[in-house]
Amino acid sequence: MTSTLPEQHAKTPETSLQKVAILDCGAQYTKVIDRRVRELSIYSEILPLATPAKDLKSYAAIILSGGPNSVFADDAPDFDGEILHLGIPVLGICYGMQLVAHHMGGTVQPGDVKEFGETTIEITQENPLFKGLPNIQTVLMSHGDKVSQMPPDFIGIAHSGDILAAMMQPAKKIYGVQFHPEVELTEYGHAILENFLKTVAELKGDYPLESRLQETLSGLKQTVGKANVFVLVSGGVDSAVTAALLLKALEPDQVYALHIDTGFMRHEESDTVCKALQSLGLKHLQHLKSQDDFLNATTDIDGRIVGPLKTVTDPEEKRRIIGDTFFKLTQEAILSMNLDLNRTFIAQGTLRPDLIESGNAGVSQIAHKIKTHHNDVPLIQAQREKGLIIEPNRDWHKDEVRKIGAMLGLSDSVVQRQPFPGPGLAIRVLCTETPFKTDAFESLNHSIHQKAQGLGLQGNVLPVKSVGVQGDFRSYSFLAALSGNYPTDWEQLRNLAKEIPNHHPQINRVALVLNQTPSLPKLIHGITLTHLAPETLTLLRQIDFDVTETFRQAGLMSKISQLLSVLVPVSQPQTNRHSIALRAVVTSDYMTARPARLGSEIPWEILKHLTTHIIETYPIDWVMYDMTSKPPATVEWE
Ligand code: XMP
Repeated sequence: MTSTLPEQHAKTPETSLQKVAILDCGAQYTKVIDRRVRELSIYSEILPLATPAKDLKSYAAIILSGGPNSVFADDAPDFDGEILHLGIPVLGICYGMQLVAHHMGGTVQPGDVKEFGETTIEITQENPLFKGLPNIQTVLMSHGDKVSQMPPDFIGIAHSGDILAAMMQPAKKIYGVQFHPEVELTEYGHAILENFLKTVAELKGDYPLESRLQETLSGLKQTVGKANVFVLVSGGVDSAVTAALLLKALEPDQVYALHIDTGFMRHEESDTVCKALQSLGLKHLQHLKSQDDFLNATTDIDGRIVGPLKTVTDPEEKRRIIGDTFFKLTQEAILSMNLDLNRTFIAQGTLRPDLIESGNAGVSQIAHKIKTHHNDVPLIQAQREKGLIIEPNRDWHKDEVRKIGAMLGLSDSVVQRQPFPGPGLAIRVLCTETPFKTDAFESLNHSIHQKAQGLGLQGNVLPVKSVGVQGDFRSYSFLAALSGNYPTDWEQLRNLAKEIPNHHPQINRVALVLNQTPSLPKLIHGITLTHLAPETLTLLRQIDFDVTETFRQAGLMSKISQLLSVLVPVSQPQTNRHSIALRAVVTSDYMTARPARLGSEIPWEILKHLTTHIIETYPIDWVMYDMTSKPPATVEWE
């Protein structure tokens, strides 16, 4: 049997390993389930949902993932119901629970509203799945349909209001949860999965990270042989670990590295990166300074020439141009190094979540495309067809990459670096030529204002859009800003920030304006014309540096998974200035994330000083703090 996830560098594991099968219903969270299972040192495989029951007999547990479909849709993916009679413990998650209910004689009903976001559930019956956990807990629900009648012999074990949140058939060891235990926003998700795997399915945990590292190293040796490998090193932890893996598995003379300063890097990042790489022992390292090449670059998208980049506003087009230019420069560098592209491997630092979010066919046949990542450009696809792409990190999630890096002897300053996207600051300057508006703009602005008044605040819908992920689909929606004399009770503010997108799906992001003067007009119609330009990038780079330094000096960086500043094209009428949005998120998998808490994780005093400094030093009218989780917003704004 083959996995839908090509185990590119992994040997077939020892057959004595206990295995978990994750049947992929197409959710973007499927690989997070896989990661959670592996985190418990348990070997797992992601298999197509249609895998016949007879092929699953050697597995010790089966998990049915969630998915974007409704069981009522004509093309709803189905599975072999015999799986439920194999005597193997089964956990159905979200869509998976509905499939179980459907097959065992229960009733699934289309939901009136789609349930997105955090919800409270109550455990209503003692059971092994929630063993040792509090009766009331927060979970992430992400599906419209619900199980309205359980199959015979099933017992309801948790509820959210009148919605069945979890059910079980203990004799058959079949469990179903309507929510996503695998994601961070589900408070006790980790413990729920551990209970299922270790208590219900009695798995021992015989597949630790060390053996996965050894498999990756021997797989790399086998795949590459005596060939050369070219690696683009951004300076982030992913590519540093890729380089470290290559250096560990291969001879130093086989490894060629290139660092491209795109002009979208953080303050002095390129120099720091290059020095760090040399101390890693890399012998062949080239460092290019290419901002002009990028800003003037164009690319061909489906026969249409797009660009130059300095005139482009569409985020996906920006990513495409940057990705293509990256690899054009890479190709030239390879030629200048006398490396033959027909024989040289290109190593990429791609992680598992990157592959999921770009709906990569090698990872999931069904997952909806969430966002194009720069490392999936046509040039790389061509190289992939030749079998010359290696992605030694494809098996790891972010915190696992850090652990692997430390195991390989990389210093803390390298492995603890916060992630930074390939397109860098280019996707943190929100580029626009026209205000983003719909017919409902003014009435939406009014509704948000009324909602905000509950906390004595002004509410605005700003005429800009940012990217989000609502349900299993990505969205470009409005940004809401709350301003005025705000309370410093974080929970009150957060609840409002949760409520707004829940009630108004046209809004996927909510920010708190930290400065009280100048106040925002009641309705903001216009935007500041914004493109990628050296001075705009310098402005954002300088502010980003000030923000990062302030947080670093206050000892806040270790509490925050990713801290970023976004240049937002709104200002007081006619000033042609900008606003800055601060985004500080806490996450370990980047599939879901929550904003860092103001007042506890980030002291108000520090934010207030920082805001005053930014307003007084730069052409910035408002400093905002992004209070949105992922979902409904993504970490980045574009
Ligand atoms: P989102 O915005 O999708 O981000 O919630 C999740 C993580 O991915 C990073 N990210 C990117 N990384 N190229 C990258 O290499 C990209 O185009 C890109 N977009 C987002 C983001 O910084 C976060 O860590």
